[in-house]
Amino acid sequence: MRILSVVGARPQFVKLAPIAHALAGRAEHLIVHTGQHYDELMSDVFFRDLDIPAPDLNLEVGSGRHGAQTGAMLAGLETAFIDLQPDWVLVYGDTNSTVAAALAAVKIHLPVAHLEAGLRSFNRRMPEEHNRVLTDHAADLLLAPTDVAMQHLAHEGLGERSVLVGDVMTDVLYSVRDRVAIEGTDVPEGLKHGGYYVATIHRPDNTDDPTRLTAIISVLASLDAPVLLLAHPRLRSLADSAGIELSAGAVRAVEPLTYPQLVAAVRHSRGVVTDSGGLQKEAFLLRIPTTTIRRETEWVETVELGWNALSWNPATLADTVRRPAPAPTDATPYGDGHAAERVADTLLAAPRPVGA
Ligand code: UD1
Repeated sequence: MRILSVVGARPQFVKLAPIAHALAGRAEHLIVHTGQHYDELMSDVFFRDLDIPAPDLNLEVGSGRHGAQTGAMLAGLETAFIDLQPDWVLVYGDTNSTVAAALAAVKIHLPVAHLEAGLRSFNRRMPEEHNRVLTDHAADLLLAPTDVAMQHLAHEGLGERSVLVGDVMTDVLYSVRDRVAIEGTDVPEGLKHGGYYVATIHRPDNTDDPTRLTAIISVLASLDAPVLLLAHPRLRSLADSAGIELSAGAVRAVEPLTYPQLVAAVRHSRGVVTDSGGLQKEAFLLRIPTTTIRRETEWVETVELGWNALSWNPATLADTVRRPAPAPTDATPYGDGHAAERVADTLLAAPRPVGA
């Protein structure tokens, strides 16, 4: 069986790693990179550090507004799919690369499987929310990470196409956590274990309004311990054009970290402040308290279990970050670290969808 994975943005490379390993020797696995993320630290280092085979094809689409970026992917992916004739197209998460691949495939009657199906924020201002809903409804097989995701899919009439496989990011996180512990990967220089925060901000709702971005940076600058701000290129370019200095007060703005460096940095931190989806969950799995600068989260389990708190208003952000430590938990809402094997089993056993 020939399975073609389409990836393009940083979180998708992390999810691709355990899938590539689980499919090795069991199926012919091809990788197409759309080129949505292209900086070395946003793309290449993930293939290197997570031992992912180099992409068979890179469309080099690059940055652009949603329509131009997604449209360029659609055209390039259609040609790639016609040339490569996969039995399954596997798409990941919720980026523009995800929806482009799902749409390109379904139009030419290729079976599509969506990994990380069923997540919902119910916030229609987020591009990721349109991408997930459209992808789930286009796909033939929905590989869901959690019970809550399965419930959302059932509610939208998609229950019959859905399979609960668990969360593949848990697979990667556990293996990299063990690796960095053995290798002794340490925290960045000048920081003490338990004596700093890790922060990321990249969502348009937080970065694109200079007044809001200034307010968020000011709160981070006033925190009671150093803040390692891992600056996404989107954050850097918007801060530069608005004349906002990121490295102020407690904040130390640095380049994005590699995945093993990120896991080590979070694991030894006092807390995480973020608007990233993946990082909320990674911090929970490492049992590091997190504050999420959003109104809602797709990973509701992290909030219900007390390890994540939502904080939209910059006026209350500092108090939320400094709240008392949560109660310990041994809950495993994101699975056992073997989700990728279930994905491989499911794809290899799946009948070819009707009409494909
Ligand atoms: C995308 C995803 C988001 C995911 C995030 C992870 C969509 C709609 N959003 O957001 O879900 O959480 O990736 O990082 O697909 N840029 C560079 N170098 C790069 C990549 C981006 O400089 O390698 C800059 C460009 O100026 C670009 C901007 O970042 O315009 C935004 O990149 P884009 O891929 O459109 O969206 P992200 O904000 O990264």
